[in-house]
Amino acid sequence: MFGGKGGVGKTTCACATAFRLSKEGFKTLLISSDPTPSLSDMFTKHIGNMIVPVRNIDNLFAVEIDRETVVHRWKSKFGDEVYRVVSSLLPVDRGVIDYVAEAPGIDEEFLLDYILELFEERIYDKIVWDTAPAGHTLRLLQYPEIFTSHLDVVGKTYYRIASGYQRIKRASTRPRGKGKPMSLLETLEKWRALAQRVIHLIRDVNTTEFEVVTIPEAMVVNLTMRLLSTFEGYGIPVGHLIVNNVIRSQDAAECSFLKKKRRTQLKWISYIREHLRPQLKITEIPLLSSDLQGLQSIHQFARYLFPHGN
Ligand SMILES: Nc1ncnc2c1ncn2[C@@H]1O[C@H](COP(=O)(O)OP(=O)(O)OP(=O)(O)O)[C@@H](O)[C@H]1O
Ligand SMILES: [Mg+2]
Repeated sequence: MFGGKGGVGKTTCACATAFRLSKEGFKTLLISSDPTPSLSDMFTKHIGNMIVPVRNIDNLFAVEIDRETVVHRWKSKFGDEVYRVVSSLLPVDRGVIDYVAEAPGIDEEFLLDYILELFEERIYDKIVWDTAPAGHTLRLLQYPEIFTSHLDVVGKTYYRIASGYQRIKRASTRPRGKGKPMSLLETLEKWRALAQRVIHLIRDVNTTEFEVVTIPEAMVVNLTMRLLSTFEGYGIPVGHLIVNNVIRSQDAAECSFLKKKRRTQLKWISYIREHLRPQLKITEIPLLSSDLQGLQSIHQFARYLFPHGN
């Protein structure tokens, strides 16, 4: 997962990482969930909201997932269950499904479920996720827990409304098509288990690595430090900090403006290195003069991101 402030190079780093993984032979899926995705610009090819193979790169697939697609998928997967649970508590019609799906911030929850499903299907060896700018990513991480605590409230309310477990069971085991009907409490349990799987997926260092991208400038560094401590607060270890747009000494040699700018950058890089735990892997990427678009650029960028690779 790639996160960081807007415009710092998340998409570029995510593309270069996905490119590199696919070159190593991993079947890789690159996902952008940014409301203004730019994978198509990077690969100079339309990607869109369906998973497609990336032209000229073996093993690499990509998708720019949008809100409508994720909501549609969620409604067909969970709509009936949501209706059953809510209508057992309140006199509502099926419009309640749309109401729930439009709740602010719920997109993040849907997105996590989409990623979890892709992960559990094991079609891809690696999933590289280019997230939306920092604020969204943080909200995203809070959702499974908020969701789980909501479920607790729903569950308790349910117990209060129904008089006794037997009655709950009788009232809630209406037929649901083929197979054994699922009780409402089983449905709530299923949702809780799903939220737990999401929490586990994003916290398990064996499956998920967070990569934070930053640039050595005051405001971005401050936000990055806050982001990193919030991640740690959630028990999510960040594996890699990428410091992008670093002016190289040879590029600054002839220009007093760049020299001055580089001095400020070096100050911020030292600050970062002093204040973060020494085990954190930090990679500096130079500020490049050319436009970063197309395979050549991705390849070039990947060489900076993976200096020890082939
Ligand atoms: N090292 C670099 N040297 C020069 N240009 C760069 C470098 N890294 C990224 N860029 C350029 O900076 C711009 C922003 O990069 P990118 O789109 O990867 O950032 P982002 O964090 O994904 O932005 P957003 O938050 O808007 O999604 C792009 O035009 C990209 O080509
Ligand atoms: Mg981006």
